[in-house]
Amino acid sequence: MTILVTGTSGHLGRLVVESLLDRGVPARGVVATARDVETVSDLAARGVDVRRADYSDPTSLKEAFSGVDRALLVSSNAIGERVADHRNVIDAAADAGVNLLAYTSIANADATTLLLAADHQATEKILAASGLPVVILRNGWYMENWAGQITVALEHGALVGAAGEGRVGAATRADYAAAAAAVLTLDDQAGRIYELGGSSFSLAELATELSAQSGREVAYRDHSTSEYTAVLVDAGLPEAVAAIYADGDRGIRDGELLVETGHLEQLIGRPSTPLADAIKAQLA
Ligand SMILES: NC(=O)c1ccc[n+]([C@@H]2O[C@H](COP(=O)([O-])OP(=O)(O)OC[C@H]3O[C@@H](n4cnc5c(N)ncnc54)[C@H](OP(=O)(O)O)[C@@H]3O)[C@@H](O)[C@H]2O)c1
Repeated sequence: MTILVTGTSGHLGRLVVESLLDRGVPARGVVATARDVETVSDLAARGVDVRRADYSDPTSLKEAFSGVDRALLVSSNAIGERVADHRNVIDAAADAGVNLLAYTSIANADATTLLLAADHQATEKILAASGLPVVILRNGWYMENWAGQITVALEHGALVGAAGEGRVGAATRADYAAAAAAVLTLDDQAGRIYELGGSSFSLAELATELSAQSGREVAYRDHSTSEYTAVLVDAGLPEAVAAIYADGDRGIRDGELLVETGHLEQLIGRPSTPLADAIKAQLA
């Protein structure tokens, strides 16, 4: 069986490849695609079948998908511009006749109003119309999303956000990658939709954990969505990016990033990485 993973130059795609190899999938049975194959030359050196694939280049996709049985489309990071690219990948998977196409979507895609969700919702519609055997991995927030803020919070003694008392079910990228690798190697996955997330915490609890582990007092300072957008713009983010980040916190406040299905733990066969362990890793 040949399993293709897209976006392996990125964090998640690479971790999925590692996870497939950890599960005992032979390297020759893993196709790792990237726009620039030099970025994954170490995988090629380990026997992984590295192929060039640009989501915007159907010819590259056709060649990359040749002989592939199962595939994971890692959503592109080109927010707002990625639906056409995702469609190209789905078309290539359909032309190749894959037995399973998995897609990394967003938590609670049926109901969420997050700005980030529109591309995922559109992609899920294309997948549903494709007639392909599809499995949807609706990933919750990454723990790593706070990596940059943690550094700033320790400097200023304040974790700034706009999530109020909302709770977020975050997990590490490695947890989500392990879940994707499980889905790609298990049978009877077509038609399934997984809502994936870790055990939940509020941003105040995140600040408390930071204080405990760093020995420095860090308080959570809450703002309205518009105030927080302005804070991020002041810190140097472009307005559109700041608005998306602040809207993410708005989603946490409104419970849109809470995931309590237990699907992640079921797929990976262990609890997701606890907040304390994720912070420990980030502080290290
Ligand atoms: N759940 C969350 O909290 C969260 C947070 C951030 C992102 N995400 C989503 O999850 C995805 C994976 O996360 P990540 O951390 O691995 O992101 P990442 O490190 O930014 O990786 C994104 C990957 O997408 C690839 N890509 C983008 N446009 C492409 C194109 N036209 N053709 C081929 N590849 C293309 C990138 O390739 P290049 O290296 O060539 O640019 C890269 O490999 C992101 O892309 C985003 O959709 C989710």
